[in-house]
Amino acid sequence: MEDTTIFYSSVSLLFLIFVFKLWFQPTARRRKNLPPSPRPSLPVIGHLHLLKHPMHRTFHNLAKKYGPIFSLRFGSRLVVVVSSASAAEECFTKNDIVFANRPNLLLGKHVGYNNTILTQSPYGDHWRNLRRITTIEVFSSIRLNMFLPIRRDETKRLLEKLSRSSRKGGFFKVELKTMFSELTFNIMIRMVAGKRYYGDDVEDEEEARRFRKIMKEATSYGGASNPRDFLPILNWIDGGDFTNKLVSLSKRIDEFLQGLIDEHRIKKAGLESTNTMIDHLLSLQESQPEYYTDQIIKGLIMVMLLAGTETSAVTLEWAMTNLVNNPEVLEKVRAKLDDQVGQERLIDESDVFKLQYLQNIILETLRLCPTAPLLVPHISSDNCTVGGYDVPCDTILLVNAWAIHRDPKLWDEPDSFKPERFETREGETRKLMPFGLGRRSCPGSGLAQRVVGLALGSLIQCFEWERVGDEKVDMTEGRGLTMPKVDPLEWPPSLPTKGQEVKSTSPTTSTPQKEANDQMDHDQIQIHRDPSRWLGIWMWLWRCSGGAWCLGLASGLRFSSSRSFWIRFSGGGSGGCGR
Ligand code: HEM
Ligand SMILES: *[C@@H]1O[C@H](CO)[C@@H](O)[C@H](O)[C@H]1NC(C)=O
Ligand SMILES: *[C@@H]1O[C@H](CO)[C@@H](O)[C@H](O)[C@H]1NC(C)=O
Repeated sequence: MEDTTIFYSSVSLLFLIFVFKLWFQPTARRRKNLPPSPRPSLPVIGHLHLLKHPMHRTFHNLAKKYGPIFSLRFGSRLVVVVSSASAAEECFTKNDIVFANRPNLLLGKHVGYNNTILTQSPYGDHWRNLRRITTIEVFSSIRLNMFLPIRRDETKRLLEKLSRSSRKGGFFKVELKTMFSELTFNIMIRMVAGKRYYGDDVEDEEEARRFRKIMKEATSYGGASNPRDFLPILNWIDGGDFTNKLVSLSKRIDEFLQGLIDEHRIKKAGLESTNTMIDHLLSLQESQPEYYTDQIIKGLIMVMLLAGTETSAVTLEWAMTNLVNNPEVLEKVRAKLDDQVGQERLIDESDVFKLQYLQNIILETLRLCPTAPLLVPHISSDNCTVGGYDVPCDTILLVNAWAIHRDPKLWDEPDSFKPERFETREGETRKLMPFGLGRRSCPGSGLAQRVVGLALGSLIQCFEWERVGDEKVDMTEGRGLTMPKVDPLEWPPSLPTKGQEVKSTSPTTSTPQKEANDQMDHDQIQIHRDPSRWLGIWMWLWRCSGGAWCLGLASGLRFSSSRSFWIRFSGGGSGGCGR
């Protein structure tokens, strides 16, 4: 109990200092017009005690009371939370450069290679260079088009998997979360490293599973609501336990990433491609070894996997949930799909661009269920004003996109799922900010929309979906959402007692809610393979691939006939479907 005593006496001491300071504060100083703030702000901890998960709901409730721009204190750090479209726009137009920085948090320091990775890097030349590299390697339309065969192939593998389990006929329950995660992870890792993880090679699958778990742990520490970031004293109290956890996490991630680089350095046989981001970065390393260190390369891979996989997977999951909850929307989009694509071939990305209603479904999903409801924290690098209030230098900015997307002043029936709303009022698209705004906004939005569009379209085209019971599928968040899940804030923090095992607060152990939800997903969505619907597409795939799938560039990756009941390698026409 000694630690507890130390803790409480330090708090009392700090409290005294605080009172003392308040008492003798010189009144001459110009008072800043800070955004309104809930009272009281407790000494030392500020408003940290108010933070309850899910954070975006907490902030939404506070905004109802204190207005669309309010401020909080996380420890001694000032935080401004913005919950209106106009204020958010002001932050990312007039003040875009001021807010182009990221706060220096423990996660970025220990896991993000001392904040040198793209998502965390301070605004400046290094950040610009990282954005440029990722644009050239991944986000440019040339690259996106070049990687289309990968997205096609992975989507077909997903269909094949679902089809295999649904061949008995009738509806069966399906757990989509894992399948979607594997889909997006494979797409990303194939783009970056030219290999896939889920499939025939079981050894790699294990590795990838381990890595995805690590990534999940990493995202769970994300966001800006970890009290340890604002009260360094906590790290001292817990004996560096949390820091150690981060260091260990960082080590595991680093080993995985170093392995990937080394594979390419020795040009290991069995890689699908050696024309990948890693190979290109390694050749840059040869010409500029002092800048393109292994660490920079590892950081880039990390960002792609960290920012680019769960986000899209979760969006897909929400989209399916919304569709089974709104069967009339599902019917409508399917009719449009049959109309434009038919049932004689599988939908392709070029169809997705033309299917406006499908696009609107994705937009509406991103509106109601933005996977990063508070975007990613920004920090001001200068004094500025927002909505007439003073925002000093070094203030953390959180934008509650979730609340803005449900603002009744902007949206009719803000809580209902109505893709049609994007047909009538063009302007409404502009109030949507699931990818953030301004120069720090998401560079992966185009990729995400392609991945989600193709997968969703294919799932709708090939299968019938419905929910299991009459009850709607639960829409409460926390379903492992990348809505940055953080260490639940406990106040006062549970302090380790001597001789007792430190209670782990890692998300893997502290999210019973999420597990229940995994279960729920499994129980609430079911799928049916309509034979007549499948037949045309099946014939098409068979024809155009000469028995194998239409693999395009992704040669060398074939289904073995033993794993698949409806793909044969013998006979069949030649390729020539032009894909
Ligand atoms: C539906 C999927 C996605 C959503 C909802 C999403 C959302 C976001 C948001 C809200 C931000 C922060 C914007 C801000 O700071 O205000 C962001 C940043 C970022 N996203 Fe995405 N994202 C998605 C997919 C992707 C994909 C596929 C990639 C590709 C690898 C990606 C890479 C990044 C990167 C690198 C950043 C950091 C940009 C910077 O700090 O300069 N994202 N994303
Ligand atoms: C981390 O970065 C900061 C500032 O960018 C620098 O002062 C510090 O020395 C770096 N720490 C390590 C361990 O490289
Ligand atoms: C911001 O304003 C304060 C006074 O309100 C001043 O002391 C400080 O130097 C200013 N910071 C910058 C970066 O201009």
